[in-house]
Amino acid sequence: MSASRSILLIIGGGIAAYKCLELIRRLKDRGISSRCILTKAGAEFVTPLAVSSLAGERCFTDLFSLTDEADIGHIALSRSTDLLVVAPATADLIAKMATGLANDLASTALLATDKRVLIAPAMNPRMWQHPATRRNMAQLEKDGVLVVGPNSGAMAERGESGPGRMAEPAEILAAIELALAGEAPCQRAIGFLGRLPGGASTQGPLAGQHVLVTSGPTHEAIDPVRYIANRSSGKQGHAIAAAAAAAGARVTLVSGPVTIADPDGVETIRVESAREMLAAVEAALPADIAIFSAAVADWRVADEATEKMKKDGSGLPPLALIENPDILATVAHRQSGRPGLVVGFAAETENVIAYAQAKLAKKGCDLIVANDVGGTGVMGGDANTVHLVTRDGVESWPTLAKQEVATRLVAHIARLAAMRAGT
Ligand SMILES: Cc1cc2nc3c(=O)[nH]c(=O)nc-3n(C[C@H](O)[C@H](O)[C@H](O)COP(=O)(O)O)c2cc1C
Repeated sequence: MSASRSILLIIGGGIAAYKCLELIRRLKDRGISSRCILTKAGAEFVTPLAVSSLAGERCFTDLFSLTDEADIGHIALSRSTDLLVVAPATADLIAKMATGLANDLASTALLATDKRVLIAPAMNPRMWQHPATRRNMAQLEKDGVLVVGPNSGAMAERGESGPGRMAEPAEILAAIELALAGEAPCQRAIGFLGRLPGGASTQGPLAGQHVLVTSGPTHEAIDPVRYIANRSSGKQGHAIAAAAAAAGARVTLVSGPVTIADPDGVETIRVESAREMLAAVEAALPADIAIFSAAVADWRVADEATEKMKKDGSGLPPLALIENPDILATVAHRQSGRPGLVVGFAAETENVIAYAQAKLAKKGCDLIVANDVGGTGVMGGDANTVHLVTRDGVESWPTLAKQEVATRLVAHIARLAAMRAGT
């Protein structure tokens, strides 16, 4: 991954400006540097000092600052970057962009740039739904501006809810990664424009598609208080769900028990056991793409006790195991209603690629994402080293942050799905 990727982040005057501090930190973790412009109103919500401390360089605020002009100049500022990101994109900034106003540093940079622009709108639902904002957004769509969010939900204003919440830093990051990757399907349709309140988007490499993702472990009850589990955290599956949503898909996430938050803009169904997960998956079908990244327990106890088993001196209780349903194979082998693309995960501790190739053939899926979980801290950790195994061969990726794996994987899957659809 190149360390030279950079964005110009324009922080507008909305309550969501505080989320940009987290975004800057996450961008840095990914080797993406951010130079920042803070609008006058933005500076009411976060300080230039906080922004510059996190970004690691001075935060720009004033069009007429001679020092800034001498240092870099507003034209160069808007072009010496790979991507302009506006977050939060206020109703005001959106209006200025739509009409081509240039009366402060942010709007001037936006008008002067020769780079692509990604915006993360954030405003009160009434402002978002106002005909003026609708008109302005339609204009930006025509102008090729990329959009992530907004999400739907409770507002900072008491009692208000609806579309207008800024996308979460992880979602904005995923959108930035896709925009910076500049891969063909992304370039064609990375618009994300007009995300609907339900989380689906009208544009994006997966626009109009229903993507089903499973994530996390399953818990298989032994008795009412004990269960069999594994170390899966759900970080990889949840990141995939977030990346698919950022790519424009309507996403259903079926998650086993995890302690991480549900991704925004995704319908999350929580389950406990493998049997519940299969039932939830089947209820969520049809789907265009299914990605089974959950670490489903292979076995459960044959006779789950209805009362807590007692240590009563009569010896160790026999725990006979039986096989759980195979969710990946069940869905991949469906005669009717099989998703167009079925992706499985293989967590192995040895012979990773050979086992994945055997699994691909046995399960009837289209792609296996294989990873070595033996002693590397992958399960529960933040990084992953994966190999993409198809009937055509194996593609091995370097060790990447799980969110980066998710973004790349979603772009890869979108390409595969487009090839299959002949588009
Ligand atoms: C407490 C408070 C919160 C605000 N939140 C938002 C917001 O989330 N979105 C928005 O479009 N405007 C919001 N505004 C209004 C903007 O700050 C105002 O339109 C300002 O002119 C925007 O300037 P800018 O676009 O240059 O940053 C808020 C104002 C206040 C006082």
